[in-house]
Amino acid sequence: MTFPLGNKPLLFLAPLAGYTDSAFRQICKNWGAEVLESEMVSAEGLIRNSVKTLQYVHFDESEHPFGIQIFGCNPLTMAKAATLLLPLKPDFIDLNMGCPVKKVVRKGAGSALMQTPSLAEKIVKEVKNALQGIIPLSVKFRSGWNFQNQNYLEFGLRLQENGADFLCLHPRTSSQMFSGSSKWEQIKILKQNVQIPVIGNGDIKTPEDAQRMITETNCDGIMIGRGALGKPWLFAQCSELISTGTYHPVTQKEIVKTIFAHLDKALLYKSEYVVIREIRAHLCFYTKGILGGAELRNQINHTESISELKAIILKGFSLI
Ligand SMILES: Cc1cc2nc3c(=O)[nH]c(=O)nc-3n(C[C@H](O)[C@H](O)[C@H](O)COP(=O)(O)O)c2cc1C
Repeated sequence: MTFPLGNKPLLFLAPLAGYTDSAFRQICKNWGAEVLESEMVSAEGLIRNSVKTLQYVHFDESEHPFGIQIFGCNPLTMAKAATLLLPLKPDFIDLNMGCPVKKVVRKGAGSALMQTPSLAEKIVKEVKNALQGIIPLSVKFRSGWNFQNQNYLEFGLRLQENGADFLCLHPRTSSQMFSGSSKWEQIKILKQNVQIPVIGNGDIKTPEDAQRMITETNCDGIMIGRGALGKPWLFAQCSELISTGTYHPVTQKEIVKTIFAHLDKALLYKSEYVVIREIRAHLCFYTKGILGGAELRNQINHTESISELKAIILKGFSLI
């Protein structure tokens, strides 16, 4: 991967467990997301039951450049998992050192690794060796464990020293989870101090936010997560604003076309029964703020057929 792309920073879709499956990623790609990534998968799971766990990292040819994110805290297990993933031909492997969820940090993985930087270094070293220079290695991490321990800069420098090819910083502490706001100043400081590319992440909700993050931090790429839920066109709007100084609002027709494309893509991979249920979470976002949204969501949550769902959506968006 080349950073930046031309003179424009790369646009990444963030890993969002439970949301960024192949169908949603492809929709984001159609709307201009330039780099996609799997949600985090357990390195131990990959080793214990690779057939089942590999299903979680399935990606389509059209998704390149694509990264697979793994989590864990044992350097050899992480390295073995990376080796197992190589035949799938991802474009990079990403190490999760930012997840604040109890189930993950309790075992010393995710953001808990920011408290054990020597172990984090060993993981990077082992995985880097396992990848044999075939594909790059990135690490996604946070500001630090808590307000008193914001070691992102020292941590990032140590990751670089041990072989990370690029870094992604979500500048909130682990104990903050998702509260407060991310401190973009830390992305700027990290970028000023490392030689490898830095991707900035956190709280990009509008094209103006994207442009502001780039200007304020000089980052090599921006990563958008929650802001893309129900708004995958945000990527196209960011690109347009960055290159032309303005952007187009999305029309009702384009929204419905995107929802239908999302449904059709999902049906390529999952049964109607599963898609009807999984799409509800996305439809909550797609229908946010529309007139009669609550009633529309109520109808969406009670239908059992895709054709009926499409009719409900057309009516809800006043297109029939
Ligand atoms: C529902 C949800 C699931 C997430 N899953 C992952 C994950 O699997 N791996 C990861 O590195 N970060 C994960 N994150 C964190 C996001 O990738 C991102 O760092 C965070 O949401 C901040 O970016 P945003 O403000 O653009 O959403 C998740 C966040 C949310 C809200």
